[in-house]
Amino acid sequence: MLHALYEPELGYYRQPADRPTDAGDFLTAPETHPIFGWTIARRIEQMWAELGRPRPFHLIEHGAGSGTLALSILEGFRRHDAGDLLEAVRCVPIESNAYRQADLIRRFEEAGLAHILTPSAVGVAGVVLANEYVDALPFHRVVRRGGELQELFVAWRDGFVEVAAEPSTPQLAERLADVGVADRLADGQVAEICLGLESWLTGVGIHLARGYLLVIDYGYEAAELYGPRHLAGTLLGYRGHRVQEDPLVEVGLTDLTAHVDFTALRLLGERRGLRSVALTTQAEFLVAAGLESELQALQASPATTVADYMRARSGIVRMLDPRHLGRFRVLTLAARPAAAIPQQDRG
Ligand SMILES: C[S@@+](CC[C@H](N)C(=O)[O-])C[C@H]1O[C@@H](n2cnc3c(N)ncnc32)[C@H](O)[C@@H]1O
Repeated sequence: MLHALYEPELGYYRQPADRPTDAGDFLTAPETHPIFGWTIARRIEQMWAELGRPRPFHLIEHGAGSGTLALSILEGFRRHDAGDLLEAVRCVPIESNAYRQADLIRRFEEAGLAHILTPSAVGVAGVVLANEYVDALPFHRVVRRGGELQELFVAWRDGFVEVAAEPSTPQLAERLADVGVADRLADGQVAEICLGLESWLTGVGIHLARGYLLVIDYGYEAAELYGPRHLAGTLLGYRGHRVQEDPLVEVGLTDLTAHVDFTALRLLGERRGLRSVALTTQAEFLVAAGLESELQALQASPATTVADYMRARSGIVRMLDPRHLGRFRVLTLAARPAAAIPQQDRG
């Protein structure tokens, strides 16, 4: 999976084509309509205020793509007259695809915002964002057979095939035990396990001394993710907005993902000193953050045409749809002492 996604020039996330668009392989919420970013901007404005309005305030985005989410958040600050925050904010886009990085820099330049781009940040105050990023991190696959855990490897026999054998590392069984599902996998059940979460969260902790981590992605708590509804696991390939049933064909041209284990993310984050604030669906998160007010403000603006309004509404329908983006989960973790977290925010 590491090679299929990241092999220089050949891996899916190294290709020149822009994927999270209408013409690409999938459409993410921020690409659907900027009202997603404007609404997240509202939540970030609250976070900034709760933290005592630190300057600079870093917006560190993992899997930033070509900057659509970051730019819509910055536009949100402007729409909400949050000029002080716009002055304080420094953007740190973290993106493995060189073509997307170049697009992002060009778009920031066009928006007159290139001066707020910063290549790195260590020990800063701010918000770390990861929208549809964690599901792209490479994972292991396991299967439980006759009470034993086996790992599913990929071999070449005139084509890629799946081969079950002894797990490559005890960390796989340890993770399942950690999230409380070691004995709950049914015979024959397949499961995905992302061991990269540990080092990713360690990196987040290094970046963020004070602030919040927001993870938005497909996924469930472990009991549901590894429960009877997902006996075949959740590995999927996407190509041209179609699900690619066999992830071992068109390798490098297909996006490979699996649902995120939000229990593991929370537990591992807590072990690194991050505190759990809330885990909600994306629909709940957006509504609580003020999506409706955002739509009303758009409607009230004399510059808004009927077509603009209809576009925003249809974007919102997708973002809230419980069968699609609305069922995504949003995990908020805080990097700061418990005493500093307002009571109503504790999850
Ligand atoms: C599904 S896209 C989401 C893009 C954007 N966050 C959005 O919501 O539209 C995932 C992005 O993460 C990037 N990516 C994947 N793995 C990465 C990694 N290990 N480090 C940095 N970026 C990565 C990909 O190149 C891609 O731009």
